[in-house]
Amino acid sequence: MVRKQIEELRHRLEYHNFKYYVENKPEISDFEFDILMRELQDLESAHPELADPNSPTMRVGCDLTSEFQTIEHRFPMLSLGNTYSLDELHEFIDRIEKEEGPTEFVCELKFDGTAISLTYEHGQLLRAVTRGDGSQGDDVTANVRTIRTVPLKLQGSGWPDYFEIRGEILMPYSSFDRLNTEREAAGEPLLANPRNAAAGTLKQQSSAVVARRGLDCTLYQLAGNDLPFSNHWEALTHARNWGFKISEHTRICHNRAEIDAFIAHWDEARRSLPFPTDGVVIKVNDFAARRRIGFTAKAPKWAVAYKFKAEQALTKLESIDFQVGRTGAITPVANLAPVLLAGTTVRRATLHNAEQMAQLDIRPNDMVYVEKGGEIIPKITGVELSLRPADSRPFTYITHCPECNTELVRYEGEAKHYCPNQSGCRPQIIGRIIHFIRRKALNIDGLGEETIELLYANGLVHDISDLYDLQAEQLAPLPRLGEKSAENIIRSIRASREIPFRRVLFGLGIRFVGETTAKYLADHFRSLDAVMHASREELVEADEVGDKIADAILEYFADAENLRIINRLREAGLQFEEQAREQTSSTLAGKSFVISGKFANHSREELKELIELHGGRNLAAVSGNVDYLVAGENMGPAKLKKAEKLGITIITEEEFSAMLEDSTTVSFTDTPSQQNEVSDLLSEHIPDPAIQAEEPSKPETPIQGSLF
Ligand code: IVH
Repeated sequence: MVRKQIEELRHRLEYHNFKYYVENKPEISDFEFDILMRELQDLESAHPELADPNSPTMRVGCDLTSEFQTIEHRFPMLSLGNTYSLDELHEFIDRIEKEEGPTEFVCELKFDGTAISLTYEHGQLLRAVTRGDGSQGDDVTANVRTIRTVPLKLQGSGWPDYFEIRGEILMPYSSFDRLNTEREAAGEPLLANPRNAAAGTLKQQSSAVVARRGLDCTLYQLAGNDLPFSNHWEALTHARNWGFKISEHTRICHNRAEIDAFIAHWDEARRSLPFPTDGVVIKVNDFAARRRIGFTAKAPKWAVAYKFKAEQALTKLESIDFQVGRTGAITPVANLAPVLLAGTTVRRATLHNAEQMAQLDIRPNDMVYVEKGGEIIPKITGVELSLRPADSRPFTYITHCPECNTELVRYEGEAKHYCPNQSGCRPQIIGRIIHFIRRKALNIDGLGEETIELLYANGLVHDISDLYDLQAEQLAPLPRLGEKSAENIIRSIRASREIPFRRVLFGLGIRFVGETTAKYLADHFRSLDAVMHASREELVEADEVGDKIADAILEYFADAENLRIINRLREAGLQFEEQAREQTSSTLAGKSFVISGKFANHSREELKELIELHGGRNLAAVSGNVDYLVAGENMGPAKLKKAEKLGITIITEEEFSAMLEDSTTVSFTDTPSQQNEVSDLLSEHIPDPAIQAEEPSKPETPIQGSLF
């Protein structure tokens, strides 16, 4: 009886929720809605045995903090090729039509929020996962449940038993402005734009906070193995009937002219949309055609994003702040008279470095042009000289650190100034700790920038090694922590002892040693001791390591303070050695190899790893003990000659790969990605969360199976 009553109330509430939030056509008043909700809440609290995580009452969220579990995407979340040029877009259309003949394209808005993948099982929301690195993301289900436009239970019929639907979590401008007004009143740093705000909100610990932030969710892509549709338009139409919010602005276009018209319309009309967009996505409609056209390693070849040109605004430069990053790099940041740009109010913009400022000849009180490009942080692109005050004087760059007053230095060949006071300059100390605990480094959960500041201010941590001495009792009394969070943090710190060496090396924060370089160093040297004791000549032998990186490494290990920290990390039990991967086959058992030169498909280290994985041996030099020389491009002629003389079999990369063909395939998906290095740089230089955001890194997982 009660069960039935509860079910009926849930059903009615979900229906009215859909009418109100998705269709914008409410059938009952807010008051009536609230009464139904209260009724359901009362019944549910009287009958806890009938609780359901997908009940409409769950949409208000709860104050329990949630830890985000990492979830592997069943289908990788790909990125899109993008262009700012209509010519390139036309080439895309021509290429498709050349292969496929006349083609139907679906044109959609490119929503500027944060990507999400929703999984439904038997018509119920099972999980919501962020894009993460494309192959795995964070489980943010509790937070997503609070978003009113996300159906918790599907309507209608015909949905597959199991499917995923992807889309964008957006923060409408109205929610964004309200949030920033509140933050300003509370003296909190402002959020840079709705995209960052949406991404940040999704990662809130408390779903009750998320519920209040007014997020929205628009879906644009289904993923599943056996979708019962033959094209995208059909899939979207059904998804709309199941209760999803599908953009009403999506259109089918048959040719270049129609696509151009769609773009031209939205380039202008988007200014009156209530949420941010940054372009148009053009997708082939037909699924069979999509399968024929296929994918690159990162993106479908049947879709492309055309991005709108950045908008510019003119505003007054009020002052310039100088921020100190974790490596001591100084970044000048302009404070601007607030100006509306692409739907958001811009108050700050990066000026990069002294050279950039000199080039712009930017002066106090100048009127400047700000632009938001593909970048996250607005930049100043020029000065309106006609509006310059007659008495203006050139700007003189700072000579001392704004935080610790140490005299700044400039390293050869570098545009930035640095504060050399590594161990005494607060933002550097805190920045290094924050870098160390990042997900891509030691992945210590539960500690954010504020907590680190707090720990530092309370004298509990001064460097990364202090983390390993922390006790839950020291953390629990700190504001906003409490026993449970304290224990979680300690557990996470303890777990970080198992993080592989390559990530520990990345976490140390050696200048220029990004994630990829750390991986190459770990592959090459296998242990921290070996990296520490390597000479300059030995360092540059590792893939991707040049003079600049080698010097930074030498400098890092020449510092007594760094050595002290490393010793303490060693005592704490961190991984200082790269673990050998488990052998996958013995195809190469008893065979010895020398790798030389450059290769198209693998790095040298990857080839060496493959040899070990398949039971072979790597030798450094050509000698009578060597069976095979794997010869790449640009290998030394002397080596080749010697190998020939000794009768060693010389093989190409392809021939080597063929040797492994019969054994279990091991693929290297971790290709060097400049994208990562770029976002590392960004987060390094602009520590202020108000103007910093991490671009989602591009997925590196090759495509498996069919997607749509
Ligand atoms: S389709 C396999 N459609 O843009 C294709 N993406 O730059 C998957 N985005 O990660 C994406 N609006 O977060 C698609 N209408 C739209 C989109 C859209 C925004 C985002 C999405 C994606 C990114 C790629």
